[in-house]
Amino acid sequence: MLDIKNAVAVITGGGGGIGLEVAKYWVRNGGKVVIADISQDLLDQAEAELKSIGGDVLAVVTNVTKEEDNSRLADAAIEKFGQINLVAPFAGIIRDGLMVSPDRETGKVTRKMSIADFQIVVDINLSGVFLTVRECTERMINHDCHGLICLISSTGSLGTAGQINYSATKAAMSVMPKVLTAEFFRRKLAHKIRCVAVAPGYVGTAMVKGMNQKALDGILSQVPIGRLIEPEEVAQLVADIYRNEALAGEVFFIHGGLRLGSKG
Ligand SMILES: NC(=O)c1ccc[n+]([C@@H]2O[C@H](COP(=O)([O-])OP(=O)(O)OC[C@H]3O[C@@H](n4cnc5c(N)ncnc54)[C@H](O)[C@@H]3O)[C@@H](O)[C@H]2O)c1
Repeated sequence: MLDIKNAVAVITGGGGGIGLEVAKYWVRNGGKVVIADISQDLLDQAEAELKSIGGDVLAVVTNVTKEEDNSRLADAAIEKFGQINLVAPFAGIIRDGLMVSPDRETGKVTRKMSIADFQIVVDINLSGVFLTVRECTERMINHDCHGLICLISSTGSLGTAGQINYSATKAAMSVMPKVLTAEFFRRKLAHKIRCVAVAPGYVGTAMVKGMNQKALDGILSQVPIGRLIEPEEVAQLVADIYRNEALAGEVFFIHGGLRLGSKG
């Protein structure tokens, strides 16, 4: 059983949404946090909020797509706190659209998802996660740290229409814990560093609450518990997995019973 007290969490996307909620949970339970985000404004607000609840916080402006930013982030965490115990690479974006959109009247394709919209999602949600995890794991091993790498997948990993870019990156998050757990096992590290993913359904962050009411109602009609998942509930799941050292290499869904139908 791991204790959050004095444990150090590195959280990308920590300026808002689920990342900030994990940071708040961590601080409330006596942990220390390094929050990273591309937005200086969001980071400033998040840092102030975390300090107001007594948090020991370091904020590092980071673009997760840049190798040097991730390296700087991991170094800053070690320099300030001497260890890394939780890595939560939660920075992520959506750029939704059908891959090809045929016109409803003519049946001919009038719009296609651009390579830019595909690539930016891959760059942030997949390559960015790889870089954050690689740099933090290197420091965790070299500084003999004990802890968890907790990726964030999604029910989108099962295949959501209109999200070929996002779904592909979130599917990758469900295989990476298996790869890394096997690699840690080979090097006799698996008892010290675990890797998992949490996979939320629709979480009530600004991104989801900002959808138009019709779309939101459509989503909620598919969720058996009849409401969005609260960001605190995802934070609680991350913390429960952190504490429970029997959990490794797996994906943990938190979706209120949601199942995707044949129309995704
Ligand atoms: N909200 C949901 O319903 C939901 C469901 C499943 C999974 N997720 C995942 O949870 C994670 C957080 O989502 P959220 O809803 O809190 O979104 P959010 O938009 O509130 O937070 C994402 C944060 O990432 C930051 N960010 C974006 N690009 C970045 C970059 N290049 N470098 C560093 N930071 C960057 C943003 O500034 C933002 O603060 C994402 O990976 C998302 O895919 C969300």
